[in-house]
Amino acid sequence: MCGIVGFTGEHEAAPILLESLEKLEYRGYDSAGMAVRNGDKLAEVVKATGKLRNLAEKTDGGHALAGCCGIGHTRWATHGEPTQENAHPHVSGNAKKSASGPVESNVVGVHNGIIENYEELRDKLLKNGYQFYSQTDTEVVIKLVDYYYKKYKIGPIDAINRMMVRTHGSYALELMFKDYPGEIYVARKDSPMIIGIADGESYIASDVPAILKYTRSVYYIGNLQAARILPGEVHFFDLNGDEIEIAPTEITWDAKSAEKGGFEHFMIKEIHEQPQAVRDTLGSLIKEGRIDLSEVISEEELEKIKSVTIVACGSSWHVGMQAQYVIEDMAGVPVRVELASEYRYRKLLPDPESLVVLISQSGETADTLAALREAKSKGLKTLAVVNVLGSSIAREADRVIYTKAGPEIAVATTKAYSAQLICMHALALELARVKGALSSEEYSKLVSELQTIPEKIERILEEKNRVQWFAAKYSNAHDMFFIGRGLDYAICLEGSLKMKEISYIHSEAYAAGELKHGTISLVENGILVVGILTQKELIEKTLSNMTECKARGAYLMSLTADGNYSIEDSSDFTVYIPKTDPHFMGCLAIVPLQLLAYYLSVSKGLDVDKPRNLAKSVTVE
Ligand code: AGP
Repeated sequence: MCGIVGFTGEHEAAPILLESLEKLEYRGYDSAGMAVRNGDKLAEVVKATGKLRNLAEKTDGGHALAGCCGIGHTRWATHGEPTQENAHPHVSGNAKKSASGPVESNVVGVHNGIIENYEELRDKLLKNGYQFYSQTDTEVVIKLVDYYYKKYKIGPIDAINRMMVRTHGSYALELMFKDYPGEIYVARKDSPMIIGIADGESYIASDVPAILKYTRSVYYIGNLQAARILPGEVHFFDLNGDEIEIAPTEITWDAKSAEKGGFEHFMIKEIHEQPQAVRDTLGSLIKEGRIDLSEVISEEELEKIKSVTIVACGSSWHVGMQAQYVIEDMAGVPVRVELASEYRYRKLLPDPESLVVLISQSGETADTLAALREAKSKGLKTLAVVNVLGSSIAREADRVIYTKAGPEIAVATTKAYSAQLICMHALALELARVKGALSSEEYSKLVSELQTIPEKIERILEEKNRVQWFAAKYSNAHDMFFIGRGLDYAICLEGSLKMKEISYIHSEAYAAGELKHGTISLVENGILVVGILTQKELIEKTLSNMTECKARGAYLMSLTADGNYSIEDSSDFTVYIPKTDPHFMGCLAIVPLQLLAYYLSVSKGLDVDKPRNLAKSVTVE
């Protein structure tokens, strides 16, 4: 998730682009760049790694870049580390080094999204004499537009339409063509883009906050549509190149809530971004109906793995706890799950046939980084599952699988957690396939079932009001227990942490069968016991543990899959979620628990996004 902006009008573009990018920095902040054109002179590209302020300093607040037409970008790296070469804008010519400076080539552009078939397109362009200076998917798609533009001697819109037909993935693209000074061409599929016209000038942005200062009337360009933008004018085109009408929409949000896309908090916004985060992560892992980890680890290496050790902290450790059940059950490979803060001081026994998997959203968590270094120093094979490209853990691990959750602002992780789960399920499926633990039918069935998760999360989010109603009833709760068995217990761990993190309610996750060995002494009138019941063969067992709590005065909330309607007979409140394969139930069951914690925190008037005593990335021991 990057932020893109564009402007063409009477005013100097660069200061306007910088100010708009500032409003989009929550979308990505590892590098930034602009391309600005002064009349029909060549466009000038300036890039800078790190925070946006580095670009502002480099261009003296934009004043060093003359011209009234320009495009800008703030990056969240997905393809290629956050370097000068990989920063946007990118150009269509065979530029040297990072393509900064005057743009000789036909097309210069910025992009937000993920081009899934970029490798195949790059091979096609290499065969047609193109060279590449960056590792980005964006440079590929800009060169593809240039390829069609030159090969068929067609206009920008036709070249863009040919690109859209040929490209798989998501994109919001802004392009400037050398032959069309003062004009910006855009194309969109799945990634957000809005266009605003005010006082004879035109603005483009990934999101409302960037242009709210200039206009509240915006155009939402549709999927697989393109547009030609001139000062104070915009023309929309469909995939056949026919001009189409789009009616403007009036924005009613204030600037602050606009950054949250109209949501009250980043956490609830990110909860609603989970379907896309899972979709993007699956998109990067699945090729032609199969999980493709060939860029990360070879089948031979996977086949030789005799055991897996998962090391992480907090919610990432909870992903590990779920993965343990799934990998052992699916692939028959023994799994240990270790707290990084403990693992780093343990006497590690070198085991060439073991794989150490380190999970981290930030990629900077001190304990997990130290555990990685410890494992490497013992010659252990390491694989990291990370959300931040170029982060320390990503750079130091032998192999990396990236989650595609985009920047996560709220301290309490939600969409990154869900994307991590998907990566671990993909690893489990690949281990099971190469070890012959799954038939190819079973394998394909599970891979397609995994691809139903985004839509099922959307269905759960449609039902969020029930959870909101229940949370309002319980805003005075002091103690809670989340209980479950097997994979459900691992789900409880994350549900309970979410509750503690943002609502400050004392909450414990407990293996349901353990309760009667002591902890049930804490159960009394008014205690809320949340039972997770998604594993068919364990439902009766967990229900009887819940009934034992009921007998001691507890109030029971159950979370189970559609169809298990008998459960509500012994529960005070039941939440149903769509069915999926038992291994993947955790991807769905966590969503109502995130919502429960969120609505309880809101009902207590707490700072949901920045809870007390916590940091988004714990870089100290
Ligand atoms: C989760 O909501 C918390 N932010 C925290 O437990 C977090 O999961 C933990 O600090 C690990 O962070 P990481 O995934 O960035 O390594």
